[in-house]
Amino acid sequence: MTQVDIVNAMSDAEGAAKVTALFERTYGTKPAGVWAAPGRVNLIGEHTDYNGGLCLPIALPHRTYIALSPRTDTQVRVVSDINENDVQTADLNGLEAGGIDGWAAYPVGVAWALREAGHDVQGFDAAFSTCVPFGSGLSSSAAMTCSTALALDGAYDLGFGATDAGRITLINAAITSENDMAGASTGGLDQSASMRCTPDHAIRLDFRPGLTAEESAQQEAFDLSNHGLELLVLDTRAPHQLNDGQYAQRRATCEEAAELLGADNLREVADLVNAQADPATALEGVLERLDDDTMRKRVRHVITEIGRVDDFIEAFAEGDMQTAGDLFNASHDSLRDDYEVTVPELDIAVDVARDEGALGARMTGGGFGGSIIALVNQGESQRIAQCIADEFERRGFNAPRALPAYAAQSAHRVQ
Ligand code: GLA
Repeated sequence: MTQVDIVNAMSDAEGAAKVTALFERTYGTKPAGVWAAPGRVNLIGEHTDYNGGLCLPIALPHRTYIALSPRTDTQVRVVSDINENDVQTADLNGLEAGGIDGWAAYPVGVAWALREAGHDVQGFDAAFSTCVPFGSGLSSSAAMTCSTALALDGAYDLGFGATDAGRITLINAAITSENDMAGASTGGLDQSASMRCTPDHAIRLDFRPGLTAEESAQQEAFDLSNHGLELLVLDTRAPHQLNDGQYAQRRATCEEAAELLGADNLREVADLVNAQADPATALEGVLERLDDDTMRKRVRHVITEIGRVDDFIEAFAEGDMQTAGDLFNASHDSLRDDYEVTVPELDIAVDVARDEGALGARMTGGGFGGSIIALVNQGESQRIAQCIADEFERRGFNAPRALPAYAAQSAHRVQ
C-alpha cells in the first residue's frame, strides 16, 4: 500500500521568502510587504452561516502568502507559483461584477469590492504562494481573498486590519469578491475564520443579522493536547461534483422554508425550538408545518446543527470529550442523511476513522468532496490517515492526504 501524503504547513519565513523571490523575478522590484491568511477547519456548525446560525471554526497553520506593492494607476498584475509564467492583468477602472475570469477574479475582486464600498484603493502588483490545498473544503479561496484584503489594507493604509471590528470591512470585501466577481457562493464562515481566529482557540461565530462585531464572535479555548487528543484533517481529494449549483439550491430551500414558517431565517426557528423543554418534539411540530419531504430534511439538519454548536462548546469546556466526539458523529450523519452534501469518499473516510478509534469524525466545509476531521488520541493521526488511504486504494479512489492541524493565528502581516 502507498504511504499517505502529509501536507505540512509552510512557516512564515518560508512563505515570505517564496513570495518575495517570485515578486522580484516577476516585477523586477521589491514588494512593499508580505501578508498571510490561513485556511480553516470548521469544527461544527455546517451550512448554518447563511441561515443566521452558529459555526465554530479554527484557523489552520496552512496559509496563503502574498507579496504586494500598491500602484499609482488602476492596473492590477497577479502571479502565483502554480504557474509563474502566467501573469494575469486587469484594470479596476470600469470593472463590473463578473468581469474577470479564472483565479485572478479572487484577488482583483477584493480591490474592486473595497473600491465599490468607497475605500481609497488603486491598482497593485502581487505574487502568491500557498500550502492550503485547492478544492479541499479548507477555504483556499478565503485564504486568497483575505490575504489580499489585509495586504491592500496595509499597502493603502486603510486602518481596518488592526482591530477585530475593523476586519469586518475586509471580510465583507472578501465575501463580495467571491460571490460577485468569482461567482462562487459563500456565506461568510470561511472569511470570518481566516480574519478573526486566535491561536489555541476556536471561534464561536454568530451569524444572526444585525449583531455588533463583539456580539458576533466569542473565542473558546481549544487545545486538544490538554485532553490527550489531536485533530486529524484529511483531504479526501474526491472530485467535486456540481458543487456550486447544489450549494445555491440548499440555500434557496432554506430561505423558502424560513418564509413558509414566517421567520426571517432558520436561526429564528432554531432559537424557538431549542428554548423548549423538549426540543425534539418542538422540532417535529415545526416540520409538520412543511409539506415537502426534502425541505423537512434540510430544515431538520439546520436546526439540529445550530443546537449542536453550543452543545459541543459545553461538552468541550467540561472536558467531556466523548460527548464532543458524539456530536461530531451526529453532525456528519445529519449532513449525510438530511442535508445530503456528502459523497462516498467522505462517508468512508469517516467510517474508517470511527472504526479505528476516533472519538468522532465528520466532514467539514461545504461538502460534495473536500475534507473530514476526526478527534483522535494523540499520536494516532498518521496511523488512522494511513488506514483511510489503504481503504481508498482498495476502492480505487484518489489518494487522500493528511494535514497536521491545530488552532493557529488569523491573517497577519509577515514582513
Ligand atoms: C462553504 C461556504 C461557507 C459555509 C460552508 C458550509 O465553505 O463557503 O460559507 O456555508 O460551506 O458550512
